[in-house]
Amino acid sequence: MAGSFALNTGASIPSVGLGTWQIKPEVVGDTIYAAVKAGYRHIDCAPAYSNETEVGLALKKLFEDGVAKREELFITSKLWSGNHAPEDVPEAIDTTLKDLQLDYLDLFLIHGPIRIRKGTTHIPENLIPTDIPATWGAMEKLYDSGKARAIGVSNFTCKKMEDLLAVARVPPAVNQVECHLIWQQAKLRELCQSRGVHLSAHSPLGEASVLSNPVVISVAEKLQKTPAQVALRWSLQMGQSVLPKSTNEARIKENFDIFDWSIPKDLMAELSGIKQERLLKAEFAVHPLSIYKTLEDLWDGEI
Ligand SMILES: NC(=O)c1ccc[n+]([C@@H]2O[C@H](COP(=O)([O-])OP(=O)(O)OC[C@H]3O[C@@H](n4cnc5c(N)ncnc54)[C@H](OP(=O)(O)O)[C@@H]3O)[C@@H](O)[C@H]2O)c1
Repeated sequence: MAGSFALNTGASIPSVGLGTWQIKPEVVGDTIYAAVKAGYRHIDCAPAYSNETEVGLALKKLFEDGVAKREELFITSKLWSGNHAPEDVPEAIDTTLKDLQLDYLDLFLIHGPIRIRKGTTHIPENLIPTDIPATWGAMEKLYDSGKARAIGVSNFTCKKMEDLLAVARVPPAVNQVECHLIWQQAKLRELCQSRGVHLSAHSPLGEASVLSNPVVISVAEKLQKTPAQVALRWSLQMGQSVLPKSTNEARIKENFDIFDWSIPKDLMAELSGIKQERLLKAEFAVHPLSIYKTLEDLWDGEI
């Protein structure tokens, strides 16, 4: 049986979602169709992935073919860095909803604590200071309107979470962050758990780096599972949902086959001893022109 986690809104988030970053538009439709047929009920999208129109076509076909109903799926999308101005937030969700052919999102996240000028790209000259309280105010209005049934953030550190929680009228339901066996996020997980924020793990395979880790391989051999299954199951046992990306049908199924077994305590302890390193550092946001002059600034020392 596939699982889910409770959100502070009262809704639940399916524990395994399909990631769609770096899936080519011409491939994403078949990938989503295969994933939902295999049992996935959660899709992680973003306008930054340049494939939401094709995701929308696939969702429409899944509904028309009777593979799943809208209310059975949990669809996440994100507010792009160029749309942080409060007046741009409603237009941003409307564009995403139109592309996805939906009338609401289950979860809408601020993609990151990084802001660029509207309509521009991520080059240093375009980086401008964030005003998260103002952007969050606009996100809260989307929650009030029902267009976003839950709102949250992504790539927020403990400090940035605490700053937001101090001003939020609607507390974030989710913080979607890099989290996997090589970057386990113990401190952030503890903070999120204590404040009722669900931690969702993006890049749960560390973009495949986790799969060649000797400790992960050894645990997988002991359990007669694959390294990917061990990596994903570890996350579920830590209380976080996972968003693995694969375009390969066999791996899509493999990544979902993590519900009817578990990693025993002694092997969980071995996994917790893996040497830690943040893999997705977002160096592009660090520049003398940015509010983040160093990686330490961007990640508030969590590096
Ligand atoms: N909020 C954010 O800023 C943010 C940032 C990064 C990622 N994300 C989300 O998280 C999702 C996943 O992250 P990610 O795409 O960076 O990386 P990931 O899911 O950690 O790893 C994906 C890589 O692992 C391979 N793979 C998947 N399953 C496998 C298996 N069972 N065995 C062997 N290899 C396997 C994939 O190749 P194949 O496709 O060939 O199987 C791909 O190369 C993204 O798609 C996106 O939705 C969000």
